[in-house]
Amino acid sequence: MKKLLFIFGTRPEAIKMCPLVNEFKNRGCFDVSVCVTGQHEKLLRDAMDAFGTVPDFDLGIMRPGQTLGGITARVLSGMEELFASYRPDLAFVHGDTTTSFSAALSCFYHRIPVAHVEAGLRTHDIFSPFPEEYNRRAATLIAKYHFAPTEKARENLLAEGVPEGSVWVTGNTVVDALAATVRPDYESTVTKWVGGSRLMLLTAHRRENHGEPLRRMLSAARSTVREFGDVKLVYPVHPNPAVRGAAREIFGGEERVLLTDPLGVYDFHNLLARAYLVLTDSGGVQEEASALGVPALVMREKTERPEGVSSGALRLVGTEEEGIVPACRKLLSDVGEREKMARAESPFGDGRACAAIADIICEKAREGSFS
Ligand code: UD1
Ligand code: UDP
Repeated sequence: MKKLLFIFGTRPEAIKMCPLVNEFKNRGCFDVSVCVTGQHEKLLRDAMDAFGTVPDFDLGIMRPGQTLGGITARVLSGMEELFASYRPDLAFVHGDTTTSFSAALSCFYHRIPVAHVEAGLRTHDIFSPFPEEYNRRAATLIAKYHFAPTEKARENLLAEGVPEGSVWVTGNTVVDALAATVRPDYESTVTKWVGGSRLMLLTAHRRENHGEPLRRMLSAARSTVREFGDVKLVYPVHPNPAVRGAAREIFGGEERVLLTDPLGVYDFHNLLARAYLVLTDSGGVQEEASALGVPALVMREKTERPEGVSSGALRLVGTEEEGIVPACRKLLSDVGEREKMARAESPFGDGRACAAIADIICEKAREGSFS
């Protein structure tokens, strides 16, 4: 049986890769293993638990306040050690984290073919998001198979000279993940706290926003909550110390703001499904909100998911209070405006991405070796 190795290390990679791991395991025609780099610890474990995924290898690389160079170096040396005793026929990496880039690089050094899931997203600005735009472009250079979530992502790859026959549009596996997590009868202590108020969900963690931009984004959310008495804000705070400090400082003492530890993916998806709107700088949350019909205001200058903006599901509001506050006000005071965003068609897939990817890999395996 051919050996497939799935390599990931952060929460969003786990949420989007575990359903794919399960799809391959259920088919029973490959020897499937999972290697986690451990770039994240608790965030990663929580996400994997939701899908019942247990790692076969764990490089355990996370350090508090880790640097990009530190992550890269530890992944490279950890992968090298693993490949000395275990050699897959094909490795899967996902998206654009430093784990994805350095794991792909290690596969390249060891001449192991790579399949890239969620390939082809681009802002065309190497510093935005930082360092993710570089990471995904580097993964593209190395990958043999490219699974693009949308037609636009496919076009980006072809424009960079990736051979047409190695790119497939499959949809995003995050839509498959939502089918496994969202429940109509969901209730929790957080939904009880929200009660009859309108729920505004907030996530903000990007490296390029640490410092002043992050404080401006959080202040904008605070002004909105103060302006609308029937709104309650839930902010699951990323464990990065650079994010925690700002969250406590800006929201301390606000009655209608709930700061929580990061939520498990089951809780997060279900809260998102019930939100009136979400304010976010995340990548994955843009796709999830769009798939769930929840208006998302994206606190970035650029997005690698422009299909969501064109469809009307996402709106780019930048990182300045002058952009964020009026955009929130418009949605909260104009029900028609909210409905328009909520009804926009989601361009990110139909929940069958995992099956599509597995079909293609099965076909490739039947044709012979992956290399
Ligand atoms: C990483 C990815 C980013 C992705 C994000 C998802 C890179 C460069 N960045 O950013 O693309 O959007 O994950 O969340 O790959 N920490 C903990 N416990 C955890 C996880 C993190 O304490 O379970 C703290 C540690 O202090 C760690 C810090 O957060 O050093 C930063 O983690 P890191 O993976 O470097 O960056 P993220 O901002 O999480
Ligand atoms: N998420 C979660 N718990 C939270 C916040 C987010 O499980 O408290 C999930 C969310 O559903 C999405 C993913 O984390 O799938 C997004 O991760 P993040 O924003 O950290 O990374 P990005 O997508 O920007 O790379």
